[in-house]
Amino acid sequence: MGFDRDVATGRKPMLEGKIAIITGGGNGIGRTAVGMFIEAGAQVVTCDIDTEALASVKETYGDAVTIIGADMGTVEGVRSVVELTEETHGRVDVLYNNAGVGNLNKNYARVHETPYDVFERTLKLNLWSVFAMSRETLPLMLKTGGSIVNVSSINAQVAIPGSVSYIGAKGGVLSMTRSFAFDYAKDGIRANVLIPGYIDTRMVRDYTDKAPDPDAAAKEIADAHLLGRLGDPQEIAAAALWLASDASAFVTGSLLTVDGGYLAK
Ligand SMILES: NC(=O)c1ccc[n+]([C@@H]2O[C@H](COP(=O)([O-])OP(=O)(O)OC[C@H]3O[C@@H](n4cnc5c(N)ncnc54)[C@H](O)[C@@H]3O)[C@@H](O)[C@H]2O)c1
Repeated sequence: MGFDRDVATGRKPMLEGKIAIITGGGNGIGRTAVGMFIEAGAQVVTCDIDTEALASVKETYGDAVTIIGADMGTVEGVRSVVELTEETHGRVDVLYNNAGVGNLNKNYARVHETPYDVFERTLKLNLWSVFAMSRETLPLMLKTGGSIVNVSSINAQVAIPGSVSYIGAKGGVLSMTRSFAFDYAKDGIRANVLIPGYIDTRMVRDYTDKAPDPDAAAKEIADAHLLGRLGDPQEIAAAALWLASDASAFVTGSLLTVDGGYLAK
């Protein structure tokens, strides 16, 4: 995949003619990314376990999007998305592994208090799912080259209390991405990882709602960013779009931190 000067200068839509898979496109950042990728010229295939949300994505974007209810925590689920993409488009240029879950504990739990099943499920849905979706997509992507965008978290770099499963999974996504970059560089496939700060989605609201004083918890999180606020889903989707496009043709195995200055403190 070479450098496309027209994409880099904005003379050409960033994803013109590209086929992109976005996992977890029903809500939050994934849903925003579906809209932005389509606006940038891509045809998008998106999956989610929330089929109601997917139906509304289809209603909004029509023929530019193909939807499929699929669980990224199962081999059948990931295969069904890749098979549909191959049947519909015959190729894939971009894989944005966005789907993920937050802390699955009802309350925060230290390591010795974390149930085995919570740890396994969190790793399955945040780390194994990225491996499996990439494993199944790569044979198709090898035909054309492409770009894989994974999603880690600031919590892979600085810990928060009682979230060993999420932190472990997102740390794994970060290092696994470098392995993808290494293994496929000669095939014209790049792989990079986003490090978002706290973004204003259901995932963060679930987090603050568990706190004794949700408003105080929300303010505390906002204040932890140098910019004094949460990020907007568009601010992550825009970074994913850049990594997906040929404008970032010389970027692979990299971390792109989009955190309002959280990690700079
Ligand atoms: N919101 C944040 O502050 C934040 C920060 C760092 C990283 N992230 C990461 O960004 C990504 C998107 O998060 P979000 O905030 O938009 O969350 P969200 O909960 O708003 O959206 C996630 C979407 O993924 C779907 N999903 C979950 N499990 C799935 C599965 N097994 N199969 C298919 N779809 C599934 C959900 O139904 C939902 O539509 C996640 O990987 C998350 O860990 C979010």
